[in-house]
Amino acid sequence: MKKNSTTHSAQNVDEIVSNALTELMSTKTLDDLDQWRIRYLGRKGIVVQLKRSISDLPSAERPEFGQTINSASKELEAKLLNKQEEILATDSKKTAESIDVTLPGVPVNNGSLHPITQTIRDICDAFTAMGFEVIEGPEVELDYYNFQMLNIPKHHPARDGFNTLWIDQEDSNGEKPMLLRTHTSPMQIRTMENQEPPVRLIVPGKVYRYEATDSSHEWHFSQIEGLAVDKGITFANLKGTLYEFARKLFGEDVKVRFRCDYFPFVEPGAEMSIDWNSRTNQTGDANWIEILGAGMVHPKVLKAVGYDTDKYTGFAFGIGVERIAMLKNGIDDIRLFYNNDIRFLGQF
Ligand code: PHE
Repeated sequence: MKKNSTTHSAQNVDEIVSNALTELMSTKTLDDLDQWRIRYLGRKGIVVQLKRSISDLPSAERPEFGQTINSASKELEAKLLNKQEEILATDSKKTAESIDVTLPGVPVNNGSLHPITQTIRDICDAFTAMGFEVIEGPEVELDYYNFQMLNIPKHHPARDGFNTLWIDQEDSNGEKPMLLRTHTSPMQIRTMENQEPPVRLIVPGKVYRYEATDSSHEWHFSQIEGLAVDKGITFANLKGTLYEFARKLFGEDVKVRFRCDYFPFVEPGAEMSIDWNSRTNQTGDANWIEILGAGMVHPKVLKAVGYDTDKYTGFAFGIGVERIAMLKNGIDDIRLFYNNDIRFLGQF
């Protein structure tokens, strides 16, 4: 088929086609196939040469010969495509069959719980062991539960301490009744409204503050609220429960310290710190680190939910989860928890 001269007969075209198809049968690779295509169907290929030679014919013979060449060319193109598919199919089958089963496997990445989730679980475990029940509540909250029912009426200066993110929706008085909860304390009210004492609950969850971020502040973080209301509950119960929690979480030798603090919904109010050095058996000065706010539930709060304050007393506390996770894991920047950097998160 190397000859360049062409003879103008349909018979000759048939012969070319049948030779081409025989050659095509024996092509095995895409490269061979491409050579074949160039030879027959390329810009300077045999089909083009045949087409050019039409003009040499007497005009009466041209149409018929033209048609013969066209259908030959179509046939070759169709067969080319078939062959190409065939080669591709066998190639991919070969690749599939050539998997080397002795190669080491592709490692599967194991996920792990986020360090904050782990800390929340540890803290909840410590309290459920003491008979507390775990519940959750809404993050979009009403001013009514986040402030008013917690003895923080409108315009109370304590509101300034909670840099609040308000939901942009006004009521008929032109006021915004909804917010992103600034603490988990609203769940104290929601629970007491629906339940008579005894109450023993733990509320883990996210809270939000409109704050600039730095190594110790995030605009969202996690708290764990605690509430116990029953007959005869005293400040000694508060101290005993929180001390037990600290020992469960930080070890038997940990030292705790209570100091006065102010929250409108407790009286008296306190903060609890742990001595970080006592935990690691270091000598020298104590290293007091505050981990929670607490206090005896204010009688105004108990009355507001309809509890009989002659019969019942209670204590409440709010634990900062990130602070504890940072202490336990030696992390010095709160923002690391929420950067979603897998190199950080993969360490837990
Ligand atoms: N809700 C308080 C805060 O976010 C913490 C707290 C809870 C204090 C319960 C006392 C009792 O700061």
